Amino acid sequence: MKSFDMKNIDPGNLGDMPLDDFKSLGNRFVEWICSYFGDIASYPVLSTSKPGDIRNALPGNPPEYSESFNDIIKDLDNIIMPGITHWNHPNFNAYFSNTGSGPAVLADLVTAALNVNVMLWKTSPSATELEETVMEWMRQLLGLPDGFFGMIIDTASTATFTSIVAARENVPGLNIRLKGFAGVEGLKPMILYCSDQAHSSVEKGAVAAGIGLENVRKIKSDENFSIITSELEKNIRADINNGKLPFVVVSTIGTTSTTSIDPVPEIGRISRKYGLWHHVDGAYAGVVSIVPERRSLMDGFENVDSYVTNPHKWLFAPIDTSLIFYRDPEKVRSAFSIVPEYLKTAESSETIDYMNYGIQLGRRFRALKLWFILRYFGRQGLINRLRDHLRISLMFRDFIEESEDFELMAPVPFSVICFRFNPGRKISDEDELEKINSDLMEKINSTGKLFLSHTKLRGKYIIRYAVGNINTNEDHIKKAWELISSSAEAGS
Ligand SMILES: Cc1ncc(COP(=O)(O)O)c(C=O)c1O
Repeated sequence: MKSFDMKNIDPGNLGDMPLDDFKSLGNRFVEWICSYFGDIASYPVLSTSKPGDIRNALPGNPPEYSESFNDIIKDLDNIIMPGITHWNHPNFNAYFSNTGSGPAVLADLVTAALNVNVMLWKTSPSATELEETVMEWMRQLLGLPDGFFGMIIDTASTATFTSIVAARENVPGLNIRLKGFAGVEGLKPMILYCSDQAHSSVEKGAVAAGIGLENVRKIKSDENFSIITSELEKNIRADINNGKLPFVVVSTIGTTSTTSIDPVPEIGRISRKYGLWHHVDGAYAGVVSIVPERRSLMDGFENVDSYVTNPHKWLFAPIDTSLIFYRDPEKVRSAFSIVPEYLKTAESSETIDYMNYGIQLGRRFRALKLWFILRYFGRQGLINRLRDHLRISLMFRDFIEESEDFELMAPVPFSVICFRFNPGRKISDEDELEKINSDLMEKINSTGKLFLSHTKLRGKYIIRYAVGNINTNEDHIKKAWELISSSAEAGS
């Protein structure tokens, strides 16, 4: 047998980083992270980089030979850090504020070291069984009905897409999984319902599942930005009468713009009445049902088929950590499962192989970070932190309401406050108000002291202040209000 030529291989230059180097560098990076966490408040929250700054500072060609970590760390500090927008900053109040907490960061380090692929039970029994365990813990903590099956997925967008496919396959007599749309004779347009406030991931899910954007019905919401259920039912009836095929309704607990809550119990009843799948998107606010006085968020879940909530939004987990729960996991399994010969195992009849419940084969060991978070903070620690966020959010809401120069633009059921500056509440021209408020937000964001984001509600430009970082406290709220009100006054 011909042996391979060693001519171009340097045997002294094989293998991984030596363990001694790993240890000293590992210690150095833990120090680095500690300094970062300790000093985070001194960084500008929003990066001041201009497009191309970072790319232009990086070499266009890959390194030919090994480089020293001293040089790598220098570039991390000097090139990468200036282009970081600090999501872990207590004054990151844009979008949905979130946290990569200490215990979860440590878990991610271990996860990378173990490098487990949680596709089959056999490919790491601990990873699968820990995921089963923490998902059951989460089911109990959230107050979901007994028997809901949960798994960890990358994002709410994937979870919603997966649920739409499961809903599509749940329609009797179609079997699009097997035949494709073209293979179902006389197939009527399949209709998905959500509110006009639903997240864009619902539409993306409809695109990816082959439903088509024209078949997404965005039902009108009321003055509180919650879906109007009579409109929902009216639309379902009209679609049936017009020869369409309604198949799924998506409700939201905590919509993206205002965090409004759809009436899940009533939507569940309507879904059941017409035989539709009911998916609930609680990506941001769902975790709040851990707090006992907010447990009513789970009312009506007897008529929910799938539910997503994201610990990477408001439960102190770094991205990506999203939880999807199914009432009947068999419906999802039968929609997705394909097991080629090389993935067959002797244990499959008595174990969970998570690859069967969605699009991914390879899956990260995400249960570890959830486990560390739940054990480190405990239920009481989580409740306490969420409660305090809810409390200080109301403080901020009160600052807005008590000012004669600001307007509160939506109710505050959770930790996002929608407001705008309107001196003396006298300006009625929407274009003028948009200009004033977008200038104000730019001005505040450019200070680096606060990062806010905006939305539009029924044509009105609105600034959002989102609370959710584990280190955001009453003091941050007061200082944020001082900065916002003084910037507004200085500009008016
Ligand atoms: C209500 C809602 N659903 C879904 C998503 C999408 O979340 P993800 O980034 O996990 O896909 C968001 C993102 O902000 C959201 O606000």
